[in-house]
Amino acid sequence: MKPYIVLHMLISIDGKITGGYMNTDVASALCEEYYRINREYKADAFACGRITMEGSFTQGVKPDLTSYEGVRFPREDYIAKQHGYYAVSIDPHGRLGWYGSEIKDEDPGYDDAHIIEVLTDDIQEEYLAFLRDKGISYIFCGKEKIDVKLMNEKLVKFFGIKKLMLEGGGLTDSLFLDADCIDEMSLVVVPLIDVDKDGIDLFAGKSCNVQEYALKSCEKLTANGLWLNYVKK
Ligand SMILES: NC(=O)c1ccc[n+]([C@@H]2O[C@H](COP(=O)([O-])OP(=O)(O)OC[C@H]3O[C@@H](n4cnc5c(N)ncnc54)[C@H](OP(=O)(O)O)[C@@H]3O)[C@@H](O)[C@H]2O)c1
Repeated sequence: MKPYIVLHMLISIDGKITGGYMNTDVASALCEEYYRINREYKADAFACGRITMEGSFTQGVKPDLTSYEGVRFPREDYIAKQHGYYAVSIDPHGRLGWYGSEIKDEDPGYDDAHIIEVLTDDIQEEYLAFLRDKGISYIFCGKEKIDVKLMNEKLVKFFGIKKLMLEGGGLTDSLFLDADCIDEMSLVVVPLIDVDKDGIDLFAGKSCNVQEYALKSCEKLTANGLWLNYVKK
């Protein structure tokens, strides 16, 4: 029991998902294509790791837990509400200082998604009170590390998620690759090479297993970009 998972990422020719190349006009133009393709998938949810969520939505704000001192809730899954569209936030240690229960974003492909925090048991107790207060759903998926299989089961069972866009970053992409659960890859290639040694790879966890995909389509985009679409063999 799992959603159909599409890895959707913007990459340089050399497979980097971050770096100076992202600040170019070419990358900006292809970012727009990336958002368009994302919307066209009409998925039920998107998923990102803690660092990407901080960069894109919470701006690194830490949760203020002072007013919840001593407030305890059982470590049980909490479904705040059913919604048409979800933001799956992979935050194993409960570090994200969310502002509310729904994503606020200019892009309609992300705006209004109801947040589901994916946690492990290794969190500060008060974080659960913080999430409940904000109206955010949460699920427990592992002791210290995220158990992707368990997470996938819960996303289907509790929220009815059928199609999930996996949108980075590199560590999170590796987590899903290792769990052998990426059904499709949607890669928007920016025609630039950026050998910045600090640039993050598409699969930053350096997974070493070989997985085979078949080319479904490839399309030339604006600014010499390319959309590569693969499905799992
Ligand atoms: N080009 C693109 O399309 C694209 C898309 C998305 C993101 N990005 C970029 O990617 C960068 C972030 O990527 P990232 O790889 O550093 O971080 P990330 O994947 O966004 O988040 C990593 C975090 O997820 C948590 N995590 C959960 N399970 C994990 C596991 N088994 N292994 C490792 N981490 C796990 C950890 O949180 P804790 O540290 O709290 O434990 C870890 O630090 C950002 O600069 C963002 O802009 C680019």
